[in-house]
Amino acid sequence: MSALIKIDDKEFSFPVMTGTEGEKAIDARSLRKDTGYIFFDQGYGNTGSCESAVTFLDGDNGILRHRGYPIEQLAAHSEFVETAYLIIYGELPNAVQRKKFGQLLRQSGHVETQLQEIFAGFPKEAPPMAMLSSIVNALGAHFPHLATNDFEKDLKNFDLTAAIAISKIRTIGAMIYRHSQGLPFMHPKDLPFCDNLLHLMFSEPYQDYVAIPEVTKALNLLLLMHADHEQNCSTSTVRMVGSSGANLFTSLSAGINALSGPLHGGANVAVMQMLQSIHDEGDDGSRFIEAAKGGSKSNRLMGFGHAVYRNFDPRATIIGQACDSVLKKLGISDPLLDIAKHLEEAALKDDYFVSRKLYPNVDFYSGIIFRALGIPTNMFTVMFAIGRSPGWIANWKEVASNPKGRIYRPRQIFTGSTPRDYVLIDQRS
Ligand code: CMC
Repeated sequence: MSALIKIDDKEFSFPVMTGTEGEKAIDARSLRKDTGYIFFDQGYGNTGSCESAVTFLDGDNGILRHRGYPIEQLAAHSEFVETAYLIIYGELPNAVQRKKFGQLLRQSGHVETQLQEIFAGFPKEAPPMAMLSSIVNALGAHFPHLATNDFEKDLKNFDLTAAIAISKIRTIGAMIYRHSQGLPFMHPKDLPFCDNLLHLMFSEPYQDYVAIPEVTKALNLLLLMHADHEQNCSTSTVRMVGSSGANLFTSLSAGINALSGPLHGGANVAVMQMLQSIHDEGDDGSRFIEAAKGGSKSNRLMGFGHAVYRNFDPRATIIGQACDSVLKKLGISDPLLDIAKHLEEAALKDDYFVSRKLYPNVDFYSGIIFRALGIPTNMFTVMFAIGRSPGWIANWKEVASNPKGRIYRPRQIFTGSTPRDYVLIDQRS
């Protein structure tokens, strides 16, 4: 099968590619060479930038699968570390593999004193995501033998590097929280991943924080929900940076920066701020709904809409359902949950949102659970980054392992000035 493109009177034929889920693409790699044209696709919304075997997403039907496993089944039966293994290595681990992976994560979680000293350069008020990306980038400087910018060498140590990345991003995330609170850092213990994260954040020097199972379970679910999401902005950034031959830590640091924006991972903070101001003002949310309809990016209804989901975001469904049961189990009644529900109801009755197929996304309810676990709002995007690390790592690995991979280098339509002659400064108007 092939696709014909007719430009003026001339026809050009291009091969058609089909993915394992039947999704179709025109292989346009020779388009410019053959025709002199490029496709214009601002934001790449209609462009396949790579072939990937990690995650399948069907936005029209609200389907999300990691390595073939539906997100609903992973949410019901798996936990974050197991799903991280699945995403990175392609298969669910057997008992031996799971144990070994867990051990490697536990051995890799400590952040060395030299790296801890970086915090001295940051004020307490420093934005958490800026601290996270800086220190993750510094991991490459701290472990130069694991971050050589030579794929062949870096891949030889991949298991260890990946474990360091996942485990230390978690520890650094907790340290960021403690730094911003002026608290001393805690050392990781021989605990499961999520219990350790809670310990690293909330233990006191002489009083260990012991998480109740409901809290660990909810945290596990939230991290799992964020573990990967196909070619989103931050994952594409990781791939793009990695495509230059850059090591894993550098590529992850770039992904963390991409995630920090309010239209991407930063939305979970913005949602909470929006719900809080509705609460503080005693508003019913209509001010935010009306403002969001004005078309300005800075007034969007946060936690609503998605670049690819056009029906529902399956992660939002799972998290929305978990929200009620987690709060109930923890005996918490949060007025922001009621506000969120009313806001969702009102938006879903409004023609502006209905006609544009804008539904709650993963960030709409996740913050309410994070808040119930005692995690402050400014840390929400850091939690998203901890959860997303396996997806970024799996995608970097695909780039690094592909001997035929090209450096990411899109083209543009130039809209600037045509050639003109240089003018000396005293002759300029
Ligand atoms: N509030 C109001 N209007 C919106 C919103 C929103 N949240 N989202 C999209 N629109 C409008 C948009 O302005 C456009 O209007 P028009 O047709 O009149 O020009 C229309 O809906 C279609 O937009 P789109 O093409 O579906 O949106 P996009 O692909 O450009 O952007 C998005 C996707 C997620 C950036 C956007 O929906 C948004 O800004 N949402 C709020 C921020 C947010 O919650 N982000 C988290 C996304 S999920 C977590 C993650 O993976 O990052």
